[in-house]
Amino acid sequence: MNVQSLTVVFTAQEIRERVAALATQIDDLYGDAPLTVICVLKSACMFFADIVRNLRTSNVTVDFVRLSSYSMADTPRESILFSHDVEESLEGKHVLIIEDIIDTGQSMEFLMGHLATRNPLSLRLAVLIDKKERRQTAVKADFVGFVLQEGFIVGYGLDYAEQFRHLPDIYAVEPVEPNNRGTLCEKLTV
Ligand code: IMP
Ligand code: MG
Repeated sequence: MNVQSLTVVFTAQEIRERVAALATQIDDLYGDAPLTVICVLKSACMFFADIVRNLRTSNVTVDFVRLSSYSMADTPRESILFSHDVEESLEGKHVLIIEDIIDTGQSMEFLMGHLATRNPLSLRLAVLIDKKERRQTAVKADFVGFVLQEGFIVGYGLDYAEQFRHLPDIYAVEPVEPNNRGTLCEKLTV
C-alpha cells in the first residue's frame, strides 16, 4: 500500500477529552485499590501515558509488554511475536491492559490468555479504538475510546510501516487505488 493521503479522523482535542473520560471510568471502577497498568508496546505508548497521567488514584504501578504481528506467506492468519513480558508479579493484583486497537482480536486473545496464567485478582482491557470489521475472536474491551467500523489509521502511537507514530491526531490512510476514492473510515459513536 502506497500512502496517498492522510485524513483526520480523531483530533488531539477529541482524543484528550475521550482519554480523560476513560480515566474517570477507570478511577470509578478501581477506587483506591492497587492497580497494575500494562502498556502494550509500541503502539499503545501515547494512549498509555495519557491514561496513567489522568488517573486520580496514587495506587498505580506500571509494566510493559511488547507484541507485534506479522504475516507469513503460507498462513492465512497473522502471527504474533511476543518479545517482552511483564517484569512484576501479577499474582492477586488488579491488572488493566492498555492497547491501541482491537482489530482481529488475535493479539489481545493471546495476551489475556497469557496474563491470566499469572493469577491476577482481575484482568481487564482498555482500548483506544475498537475496530469492528475484521474481528475473529470473542475478546471484548472493558473500556473503549472510539469505535470504528473499518479503515487503517495512524498517529498517536499508531503506525504504518513504523511511520506516523509521532503525530498528535489520528488519521485515516488512503491507499493509492485508481477507482477507490471513497472514505476509508466510518466514524461511529460508542
Ligand atoms: P489484532 O488484529 O487485533 O491482533 O491487532 C494487532 C495490532 O495491529 C494492533 O494492536 C495494532 O497495533 C495493529 N493495527 C490494527 N489495525 C491498525 C490500524 O488501523 N492502524 C495501525 N495499526 C493497526
Ligand atoms: Mg498494538
